[in-house]
Amino acid sequence: MLPANIDDVVLTHSAEERHIKRLVMGKLSFPNHAKSGLLLYGKYGTGKTTLAHLLAVLLEHLHADDSDKTSYNWCYDYRSTRVSVTPEQSAMADVTPASFTLINCGKHHSNSSTSVVQRIEDISLNSLKYGCVAGSFNHFVLDELDCWSAAAQANLKGLITDSPAWNIFYVTTNKRYDIDEGIISRCINVELNGGEPERHLRVLRQHYEHLANYTDEQLTGVVTASGGDWRELEDAACRL
Ligand SMILES: Nc1ncnc2c1ncn2[C@@H]1O[C@H](COP(=O)(O)OP(=O)(O)OP(=O)(O)O)[C@@H](O)[C@H]1O
Ligand SMILES: [Mg+2]
Repeated sequence: MLPANIDDVVLTHSAEERHIKRLVMGKLSFPNHAKSGLLLYGKYGTGKTTLAHLLAVLLEHLHADDSDKTSYNWCYDYRSTRVSVTPEQSAMADVTPASFTLINCGKHHSNSSTSVVQRIEDISLNSLKYGCVAGSFNHFVLDELDCWSAAAQANLKGLITDSPAWNIFYVTTNKRYDIDEGIISRCINVELNGGEPERHLRVLRQHYEHLANYTDEQLTGVVTASGGDWRELEDAACRL
């Protein structure tokens, strides 16, 4: 399963959900001078990396020209699976953010953080020179940033501080307590540790027709046992 739009995303706090919706609807300016990042934190499988991908597309869509909004099938790539956020346009050409960089900090661990930070700086400087072609922002996902040492994170914090307004940083982590406090302060913090069971249930029913044979009460037990882990939920739904 993958979310097709922001209504399919389940956050832990409804206030944070309202905040994120206001950002993607353009009711609040983002990034702004105070915050240029989003820190998505919570347990395994709760949808942090997926949400980072989805938000990049929704923020591009928000700032696109009216003609581009209607001429393309806006979608995001998640591990080679394309998910459309405007299903009614699926016959049109796909468009994804022109500048989207996913950095797996567990793989590019602290030893290579200097070159990763340099790479981000290069992309940022190039877009300064030429402007962002076919996109409004450079999107940088720092996935599982807790894998980086304090020194590597401090380096990244410096980069975020100097970053132009068209760079957006998405930081994901299972261990918020291992994230540099300066990075936490520069980001809008969003907790993903599961949410209202009925929200998970609605998404599950959308994806699996056979769940129509089960009552909400029966499925709520499955959702609660998963603790908000979509991997667990998908597995449990397939077993029913
Ligand atoms: N909102 C959602 N609705 C339905 N399925 C989802 C949703 N978000 C994520 N998923 C599913 O759950 C899987 C795990 O999501 P994801 O990798 O984003 O979680 P994560 O929080 O980044 O996990 P980890 O902490 O292990 O990195 C995805 O492959 C996807 O199939
Ligand atoms: Mg992840």
